[in-house]
Amino acid sequence: MGEEETAAAAADYQKYCSLCHGADREGYANDEAPSLRSESLMRSGYPTHILHAVAYGRRGTPMGGYFDEIGGPLNRADLYRLIRWLKEQVGVDFIDLPLEPVSGDVELGREVYEIHCAVCHGDNGEGDVGPAIGNPAMLALTTDAFLKYAIEHGRDGTQMPSFSDTLTVDEINGVTAFLRSRSSGWAVEKPILRSPPPVDEYVLNPNSPPPEFELKDGAYILSEDLDRILREERRLVLLDTRVPSMWQMANIEGSVPIPYYTGNFDGVAKDLPRDGTWIVIYCECPRAAAESVNFKLRERGFKNTAVLWEGIQGWVALGYPVSVGESLWSGSLP
Ligand code: HEC
Ligand code: HEC
Repeated sequence: MGEEETAAAAADYQKYCSLCHGADREGYANDEAPSLRSESLMRSGYPTHILHAVAYGRRGTPMGGYFDEIGGPLNRADLYRLIRWLKEQVGVDFIDLPLEPVSGDVELGREVYEIHCAVCHGDNGEGDVGPAIGNPAMLALTTDAFLKYAIEHGRDGTQMPSFSDTLTVDEINGVTAFLRSRSSGWAVEKPILRSPPPVDEYVLNPNSPPPEFELKDGAYILSEDLDRILREERRLVLLDTRVPSMWQMANIEGSVPIPYYTGNFDGVAKDLPRDGTWIVIYCECPRAAAESVNFKLRERGFKNTAVLWEGIQGWVALGYPVSVGESLWSGSLP
């Protein structure tokens, strides 16, 4: 990073972050905000996890979202500059962790949690000395591998110990799976993997009138409009273009997982209605994957298509519901 960029990022940090995370990123200045200078966090969390935490915040905790698309003060370029700066201050390489779920014995994990974790993270994962690791907004959008990395390696310079010497591999996998099983609320007993909707259920509310909303810049729909037309039960198709493991973690109810990298796109297009039914497409980032699918659809003559402007991260941060496994959580957290 050049001198000017470094200075601008450092100034943003002091202005927006130091209040809680400390003048030197050490954490715990206010609200038990975690350290932003542990090597463990940077290695496992850069860039995606950290970007998402800063852009969209953690609903139900003091960590707010700073992205201008959800009402924050920072635009995309400011955000990237800030998280690059955070990483440069720590000066480590990051690891590409897998997206696949970690499988483990949830019952064993529950015991491990009660014995080793509840003392710092709270009986119900509500947070205490350590962060709220039972927070559905955090869990819904954080990968298993990221959680497991924190458990195995701890967070250097903080109270979070490394458990790789005190717990067995089965216990670490178990407690990771246990945390994942709480994705839709602490009371849920078991995660249920869903199968994608069959082709004849792609169209939601097939007998209802089409949705009414303003298409932004010829291509986008705002979260508030999508939420409204879903509640009005209008006729539409909803496509989730992320990797399907993310669809399993949290998705907008009724969506069909069609990953952006799907090879035979003509095969996909064949299953979509050609009668002018609206097709709404979303992804995570917040739009790149959805836009690529939107392009392929329009290329094939689909006219009524729209990309969700804020992406699913923005959708969650704005408090709209996602479904996980078989149950809906409304986003209204304690
Ligand atoms: C009002 C206090 C507050 C402010 C201001 C704040 N944060 Fe946070 N931040 C928190 C808390 C509390 C958490 C932990 C939330 C939880 O329990 O999951 C957090 C979590 C995070 C995380 C996730 C870390 C992890 O271990 O997973 C990152 C990254 C982060 N904040 C970066 C920032 C940046 C960058 C800024 C400034 C743009 C900022 N925060 C401003 C309180 C704050
Ligand atoms: C002595 C207190 C303590 C104990 C015991 C403890 N933790 Fe932590 N944990 C923390 C703190 C403090 C942090 C945040 C550290 C930081 O500043 O990055 C943390 C962070 C984490 C994170 C990362 C959360 C995030 O938002 O990025 C996970 C996951 C986690 N702990 C899981 C566990 C599990 C599972 C156990 C039990 C096997 C456990 N912890 C035991 C204190 C503790």
